[in-house]
Parts: sequence; structure tokens; C-alpha cells
Amino acid sequence: MLVELIGVNKHFGDLHVLKDVNLTVSRGEVVVVLGPSGSGKSTLCRAINRLESIGSGRIVIDGRELPEEGKELARLRADVGMVFQSFNLFANKTILDNVTLGPIKVRGMAKDEAQTLARGLLSRVGVADQAAKYPAQLSGGQQQRVAIARALAMRPKVMLFDEPTSALDPEMVNEVLDVMTELAAEGMTMIIVTHEMGFARKAADRVVFMADGAVVEQAPPEEFFSQPRTERAKDFLSKLISH
Ligand SMILES: Nc1ncnc2c1ncn2[C@@H]1O[C@H](COP(=O)(O)OP(=O)(O)OP(=O)(O)O)[C@@H](O)[C@H]1O
Ligand SMILES: [Mg+2]
Repeated sequence: MLVELIGVNKHFGDLHVLKDVNLTVSRGEVVVVLGPSGSGKSTLCRAINRLESIGSGRIVIDGRELPEEGKELARLRADVGMVFQSFNLFANKTILDNVTLGPIKVRGMAKDEAQTLARGLLSRVGVADQAAKYPAQLSGGQQQRVAIARALAMRPKVMLFDEPTSALDPEMVNEVLDVMTELAAEGMTMIIVTHEMGFARKAADRVVFMADGAVVEQAPPEEFFSQPRTERAKDFLSKLISH
């Protein structure tokens, strides 16, 4: 098991947003998290690297429990790469500097080594020729691929994606999904929140369906999409098909 959530609960005030969530992800597994808006998918992702605190339960990454805070947290957090809907690149830094920053600051890597690593990763996601530019000079799809390269530069054990394509123009969605599909094929452990059902069917080993803060159903994609077991999942899928 690479990622383990055991009895995780989270409240925002009176709102119980994660309800006794148990979830395990094995090394190399690709898990797609689906569910209606407000079901807790983003909160789940954010809890996994402690961007969000939890009320009770345990989160274990590669056999080590995530501490609440401190140096150890920063180190363990670096094991979890995160890509958000908004690209979150530093606007005043070049693409190359965006990617080298983490390895230099957090991993203590020498600058030239970090640049070699960054150039390799930028080329892997297909934006090697953009290294000297600033984020605003890139398309959304290119920026999101840079965000993926930046996360990979930390050599994470697991990558979390929270709706990585939902802010993109339609023609740029596939270029980002293609990079993610390649990562999955290379054996990266991935937890992906997405509304791209074609991608979920194709790339996921398992679909985790959330509703009202709870994991309601888990199944391989072909099974989830063809024979959802719960009314919540049936309802969710029928709404997708109807528009
Ligand atoms: N910082 C916060 N303070 C208070 N409530 C919050 C906060 N963040 C999220 N919530 C609430 O927690 C619930 C779960 O939100 P979350 O963003 O995890 O849902 P989601 O499944 O990612 O939804 P979406 O598909 O719209 O992104 C929602 O009811 C939301 O309003
Ligand atoms: Mg969300």
C-alpha cells in the first residue's frame, strides 16, 4: 500500500465533509475519484497532503503517518505531487525556474542538476521549447503540463490531480490527458479527480465514487460504468449521459 486513509473524518464547522473515509491505493495504481459537486473530492485530495487538516483518522504514505506539522511534514508532503485545476505557476518566474524551485529549495539539489532535471521533464511533457518564457506567455494546456513537470521534479511517490483539465479550453484537454496517460503507463501511482469519463474508463484501474463526503462505491471502471451498484452512482451517471 502506498497511500492509506483510515477512518478519516473532517468537518468544516457543522458540515461533515469527509465521513469515515477508508481508502487504500497500491503502488502503481491509478485511482479516479468521481462524485457530484460538493461530495468532498477536493477536500480528500487536500487532506492527503495536509493542505487541509483532518479531525480524526490516519493518513499513511508509504508506511509513514503524515504528521500534523513540522519539518517531517514538509519532507513527506514532497512525496505527494499535486496538480490543481488552476495551474498555480509563479507568474514572475520563468518556466524553467518554476520547475527547478522545489528541487533546489526543498530537496537541496544543486542548481545545474535541477536545471538538467527540469529540462528533461519539460521535454517529457512536450514544452521543452518554452523553458525561458513566463507562464502568461503559454497556453493553458502548456501551463498545466508545466505544472505536471514541476510536481514530477520533486520525484513524488504519488501524484494527485484535482480536475486538472476543467479550466482548459476543449482543444487543450487531450494534450494534458495524454501526458497523464503516459505517466500512468510508466507506473506512476495516481489519484485523479476528473470529469473526463473517457479518460477514467481508459486510464483508471479503479473508480472511487464519493457522495456526501463518503466513499459510496469502488469498482474497476468497466464495472462501475456498466453496473453501478448504488442509487447515488446510478443517478450521477444518468445525469452525465443526459447532457
Ligand atoms: N474551506 C472551506 N470552508 C467551509 N466549507 C468548505 C471549505 N472547503 C470546502 N467546503 C465544503 O465542503 C464540501 C466539500 O467540498 P469539496 O470542495 O471537497 O467538494 P468537491 O467534491 O471537490 O466539489 P466540486 O466537484 O465542486 O469541486 C462542500 O460542501 C464545500 O462547500
Ligand atoms: Mg473539487
